[in-house]
Amino acid sequence: MAALNKNHPLSAVLTGALDRFRVQRRLPALGADERLDGKLALVTGGASGLGFATSVDLARRGARVLLADCRDLERAHRRAVSLGVAPDRIEPLNVDLSDLRSSDRVAMDLARRGVCLDRLVLNAAVVPTAARSTPQGLDEMFVVNYLSSFALVTRLLDEGVLPRDRRDGEVPRVVFVASEAHRWAEDLALETIDRPRDGSPRRVLAWYATYKLMLATFAWELARRLSTEGTPQVAVFALCPGAMSTNIIRELPAPLRAPLKAVMRLFFQDPFVADEPVLYLTCSRSLEGRTAVYLHKMAPKDVDPRAADAEAGRALWEHSEAVLSRARGQG
Ligand SMILES: NC(=O)c1ccc[n+]([C@@H]2O[C@H](COP(=O)([O-])OP(=O)(O)OC[C@H]3O[C@@H](n4cnc5c(N)ncnc54)[C@H](OP(=O)(O)O)[C@@H]3O)[C@@H](O)[C@H]2O)c1
Repeated sequence: MAALNKNHPLSAVLTGALDRFRVQRRLPALGADERLDGKLALVTGGASGLGFATSVDLARRGARVLLADCRDLERAHRRAVSLGVAPDRIEPLNVDLSDLRSSDRVAMDLARRGVCLDRLVLNAAVVPTAARSTPQGLDEMFVVNYLSSFALVTRLLDEGVLPRDRRDGEVPRVVFVASEAHRWAEDLALETIDRPRDGSPRRVLAWYATYKLMLATFAWELARRLSTEGTPQVAVFALCPGAMSTNIIRELPAPLRAPLKAVMRLFFQDPFVADEPVLYLTCSRSLEGRTAVYLHKMAPKDVDPRAADAEAGRALWEHSEAVLSRARGQG
C-alpha cells in the first residue's frame, strides 16, 4: 500500500517538497580548490536540468565536458557560454540514448579518437506519459532510464575509453544519477524486463522507481566488478539530488503541467543548487580510494538492500547482457 501511495504524482511532489527540509546536510561543502583541471568528463542528458547545471559547474571547476544529449545541443552550448564558460570547455556530443546504435556509435567514435574519460555522469532520464518503442523494439523509458547506461558503461570499459588500469594511477569515476524512488520500487521481475511496458500514465512513477532500482543495482554490481580487494580501478558512485525544478514533467498534459510547474518553482531546488552532490562525487578528494558511495543530497546513506545484494546484481547483469545482445542483433 505504501508503495502505491509513493507512486502517486501528488505524493511524489509532497515528498519532494518535504525533503527540502527533512534531509540534513552531513558533508562539508566542496572546497574551491577541489578542481578537475586537465580532466575530461562526459555528462548524459547534459542539455537540460541537472545535466546542464552539472556540465557548466564541472567546466567551471576546470574540466572539459562532453555534453551528451539528443536535442538542443547548440542552444545548451550557447547558454553555457552566456554563463561564462569558455566555448572550448564544453563539446556537444549528439547521442540518442533511446537508440542503442547511437550510444554504441558514440562509444566507438570516442575510442577511435583515443579519448580517455576521467568522469562519466549518467544523468539522462525520461518520464513519458505513454509507452513508446525504440528502433530496437524495446520500451523507450526502459532503454533511456536504464539499459543505455548499462550499454554505454560496458562498451566504454571494453573500448578502454573508461580505462581500468591507468598508468598515472588516476581512478576514473562513474556517477549515477539515481533517485530515492528506487526504495519504493516493486521487486524486479528480471524474466520480463524487456517486455513491452504498461504505458498507463497512472503507472509511470512505478516504472520510474523500477528503472532507478535497476540503475542502483547495476551500479553496485559494477562497483564490485571494478574493485580488487576493496580498491577501485574505477570508482562508482550514485546519488539522489532531491526534488528539482526542471523539465522532467515536460510530457504531462498541459492542465496538470502548469500548476505542477508553479509548485516545483516554489518548493523544489534549482538544478544549479541540486547539482552539489554530483559535483561532490565527481570532484571531492575525500572519496579517493572509495567506491559504492550513495548520497541523498549531501547526506551519505546506504542504498536499498535489494540494490546492494550481490546475487541480485549478478542476475541483473546477466539479464541485461542477454537483452542487449538480442537488441543489438535486431540493430
Ligand atoms: N527533477 C527531479 O525532481 C529529480 C529528482 C530525483 C532525481 N532526478 C533525476 O535527475 C536526472 C536529471 O533529470 P532532470 O530533472 O534534470 O530532467 P530533465 O531536465 O528532463 O533532464 C533530462 C535530460 O535527459 C535527456 N534525455 C532524454 N531522453 C534522451 C535521449 N533519448 N537521449 C539523450 N538524452 C536524453 C533530456 O533531453 P531532452 O530535454 O532533449 O528530452 C534532458 O536533457 C534524471 O536521472 C532524473 O531521474 C530528478
